[in-house]
Amino acid sequence: MMHIIPEPKDITIHQGAGCFPFSAETALVNSVLAQAALEDFQSFLKKNFHFGLTQSEGATRLVLARMEEGDPEAYRIEVSEQEICISSAGEAGLFYALQTLKQILLTNGCKIPSLSINDAPLYHYRGFMLDVGRYFYPVEEVKHFLDLMAVHKLNIFHWHLTEDQGWRVEIKKYPRLTEFGSKRSHTNFGFRPHSGFYTQEDIREVVAYAHSKYIKVIPEIDMPGHMQSAIACYPELSCFNRSLPVATHWGVKHDILCAGKESTYQFIFDVLDELIPLFPDGYFHLGGDEVVKMRWQLCPHCQAFMKKTGLKDEEELQQFFMSRVSRYLKEKGVASMMWNWDSVEATQWLDRDIIWQMCGMPKNTQAEITAGRRMVNSVSFPYYLDLPYGWFNLRATYENTPEIPHIDAASAKNLLGLEAPLWTEYVPNMKKADYCTYPRLGAIAEIAWT
Ligand code: ACM
Ligand code: ZN
Repeated sequence: MMHIIPEPKDITIHQGAGCFPFSAETALVNSVLAQAALEDFQSFLKKNFHFGLTQSEGATRLVLARMEEGDPEAYRIEVSEQEICISSAGEAGLFYALQTLKQILLTNGCKIPSLSINDAPLYHYRGFMLDVGRYFYPVEEVKHFLDLMAVHKLNIFHWHLTEDQGWRVEIKKYPRLTEFGSKRSHTNFGFRPHSGFYTQEDIREVVAYAHSKYIKVIPEIDMPGHMQSAIACYPELSCFNRSLPVATHWGVKHDILCAGKESTYQFIFDVLDELIPLFPDGYFHLGGDEVVKMRWQLCPHCQAFMKKTGLKDEEELQQFFMSRVSRYLKEKGVASMMWNWDSVEATQWLDRDIIWQMCGMPKNTQAEITAGRRMVNSVSFPYYLDLPYGWFNLRATYENTPEIPHIDAASAKNLLGLEAPLWTEYVPNMKKADYCTYPRLGAIAEIAWT
């Protein structure tokens, strides 16, 4: 019996055949996998078993081989008495095979039974989101999340970088965003200030680290709502130029970006221009959640803009806003994502090529996916990691089926996969973050993979 998370698609133990003895005498035969991925495996061996693999001739061999074709994330492992052969059409697949091997070693020790594993992911989007806006998590802690993602064969890190309570990424053209916007005077947990941000150099370091583990990074700048930290720095971004502090407590804020002033769009485009080169994976998340429209209803700029453009209400104004920013990204070869929260009734103003991350399943979900919109399932019950285990337990998450009901097989292909968000309103440190994330993220990884 093997205990591997996520459980492989197909695993056969060859009863009666001998075991492979994993040891310092095992030679590594590799000409296909990047050095960083191998170092990860070697350091795992040294840490847990106090030996590394030898590069010279050995009594036994671990062979890494490249398959001609196939899913680059799929892999095979063949274990016999003298040899472990792992193969894949892609480096990611070889890396995943090594993650499986790590788990076999941890649960069986160094005597590995003869076996065959033939494994491939069900979905190619297997994500985890970290909200660093409410509480800042420094680079080393972000790397800890990435390490554990890799163990679970998760391949998308969605980095929620801005919130009402803090702007966390350096933008050279707008230095106040981090000088002032990354600091809140106190928090839900008492009268203590909280602050922190990533320099552009930090961002490059994290993205490179993620790539070494075959994880893509999708940044999120949440707009037009959840922008109070930016408005605190540059009040003219809001409808009424209000002077506000960086938000101290969580909750949906009424002061959002003004969608009627051209200067707002220029600000967003400037921010994107600095961030696009830092995030080369081709996706950008625009937020779009929890946008209350009170200010827009009263704002002369927003109202004049709606009239001029032919938008019938403030919902259409938000859809216009999201599409305009998405088109700016598209011109630069970047695909956009957004939460589906506020686009319950998508109109012709919301571009179909914006991918929906589903935090709910509004009634036009089926119509939109059937018409070709791509989606990622993050429905809050059961995928939000911050919600207490007492509300819905691990079994409720594990037994969830991610498919969108009542759609045909062709439309089902527009469901790219799953993502589990860790919102941090109530998650001020790693101790709480680890408690929320595990074991639930393991269950979600298995749903997404198997
Ligand atoms: C969300 O739950 N605010 C997307
Ligand atoms: Zn306005």
